[in-house]
Amino acid sequence: MSEADTYPESFHAEGNDLVAVPRFEEYRGFWFLNFDSGAISLEEFLGDAREYIDMVVDQAEEEMCVVDGVQEYSARANWKMLSENSTDVLHVETLHPTYLDLIRTNSGGTIVRGKLNGGGVSLGNGHSVVEREATYGRPVAQWISLWGEEAKAEIEQVYARLVSKFGAERAERMAKRSRNLLIFPNLVINDIMSVTVRTFQPISPDYMEVSVWSLAPKEEFGKPALERRLTNFFEFLGPGGFATPDDIEALESCQRAFASWREAPWNDLSKGFGAEKSHPTDELTQRSFWIEWEKWISRGSKP
Ligand SMILES: [Fe+2]
Repeated sequence: MSEADTYPESFHAEGNDLVAVPRFEEYRGFWFLNFDSGAISLEEFLGDAREYIDMVVDQAEEEMCVVDGVQEYSARANWKMLSENSTDVLHVETLHPTYLDLIRTNSGGTIVRGKLNGGGVSLGNGHSVVEREATYGRPVAQWISLWGEEAKAEIEQVYARLVSKFGAERAERMAKRSRNLLIFPNLVINDIMSVTVRTFQPISPDYMEVSVWSLAPKEEFGKPALERRLTNFFEFLGPGGFATPDDIEALESCQRAFASWREAPWNDLSKGFGAEKSHPTDELTQRSFWIEWEKWISRGSKP
């Protein structure tokens, strides 16, 4: 249908555009909208978090694409608890043992529970990341026996490409380590057993809605590699995963417990406080979120 068929003759498209948003900026294909025209630039805002976005985008030979479809779910909990949860490794062993046992089986016993080499990093502006040795198969590029010999050859090729393009050290980091990245305040890029992008919005103080997309390299579409990637995603994350329902239950339990704030007016996030080197189960990343949040709350909209 042409424009002439759509609008009356008296309507002139020129000069009738929607009002432009004040700031709409992109970094490596991630678009950010900001209604504050006086805000710092996106590059400055992302700062040291850019390296971790690079490490996701660079996994693709061509480009990273969003897989069709979105997971949408909700939790009767304050949204900030999911910001805390998304870079929290301390809870994984106790809250997700079923998944960890499944991975041990899927990897033929080569991946075992309790490997926690790595640590959390505060990236400034409230952003943070936990990077650690991946304790599961990664489509890029850590093979597990469940995927079979054909997949092994494919994944070895992907790994070789990463080594030739980025060097052995960075390739090892991209392929064999996982990252849970929080972009302050409510964007999570999980580069874990799959690559997912998660946002969550407060609907009320004790209720949030969550949206999750899966990213995949363009070259995987239509191939078994994408199926492996999505199986990895659904196994752990989302309403039918082995982890997300546990997390939601825990967040909602915490929300109910926080109703007793008059009797217990604080929540302890001191694990690893003052440590020279962060352990993955330390609460450094949670503290960096709350320190930034306190700045915004105490100074108004601009930190
Ligand atoms: Fe979890």
